[in-house]
Amino acid sequence: MAVRHFLQLKDFTRAEFEHLFARTRAIKDRFKRYDPYRPLHDRTLAMVFEKHSTRTRVSFEAGMHQLGGSVITLMTRDTQLGRGEPIEDVAKVITRMVDIVMIRTFEQAIIEQFAAHSRVPVINGLTNEYHPCQIMGDIYTYIEHRGDIRGKTVAWIGDSNNVCNTWLQAAELFDFNVHVSTPPGYEVEPERAGLYGTDHYEEFEDPMEAVKDVDVITTDVWTSMGFEAEDAERKRDFEDWQVDGDMMRAAKKDALFMHCLPAHRGEEVAAEVIDGPNSVVWDEAENRLHTQKALMEFLLLGKVEE
Ligand code: CP
Ligand code: NVA
Repeated sequence: MAVRHFLQLKDFTRAEFEHLFARTRAIKDRFKRYDPYRPLHDRTLAMVFEKHSTRTRVSFEAGMHQLGGSVITLMTRDTQLGRGEPIEDVAKVITRMVDIVMIRTFEQAIIEQFAAHSRVPVINGLTNEYHPCQIMGDIYTYIEHRGDIRGKTVAWIGDSNNVCNTWLQAAELFDFNVHVSTPPGYEVEPERAGLYGTDHYEEFEDPMEAVKDVDVITTDVWTSMGFEAEDAERKRDFEDWQVDGDMMRAAKKDALFMHCLPAHRGEEVAAEVIDGPNSVVWDEAENRLHTQKALMEFLLLGKVEE
């Protein structure tokens, strides 16, 4: 049987996410009750980081330990990858020694190449194009706070980056709408975003128009990792795309504010919003742990029914 990978959100069906979310609820509940659940006691996760991380590293590492397994963390600069060993050779070697791999890297093509030479499941821990683990956690967080996301509207304000692309894939999978407002020159590229079409999102020149009566406002840094050379130019271009109190007031009264973190207060979001009553950013971060535990369980043990 072909090995399953999680390289972008649409690698899984809605039914599979429904299973993952049910398992997340069960695993989270046991964790909160200090009821040990260690089905992966003989398994090893290798993580490869070509970019910085706090949440992804801690959530995968803690999650694998809590499930009873072991973790090896590799930073590019300390490994032969940093000295030019071909990615396919690294994939062939690592995946003979461990049971599952998580990679954070630059182009999606790199993780696809790794997966093509892998004997074990590969998880995308962020690429330039996608961040599926983040949005899996975010959709779960929305459901925890507000229930079904089908038919709701999410406003994306800012850069059409990896997190935006993945929200757009989520809109197709879970059948909700996204209002996207980016500065000119930073618009969504549907093919790069891996979309089936343009039915689930609408683009707005004016961010204030995009947030009117929406259920969620979300944003992300103006300059993603790997794009640091454009930072000064981006700071100028994105100036009017800060999620502030006026934007939150234009959304539905109970609208949620979401952000994958790390955040830059005073740039893409005002402190009063991210630290305000509608913000669920800490729940999003925590749910990375619980959803990824369900993901690793699924990839290694299949559909566990308890
Ligand atoms: N949101 C997220 O992936 O955070 P890190 O970059 O800290 O892993
Ligand atoms: N878009 C950001 C997300 C960080 C979690 C980046 O790629 O740097």
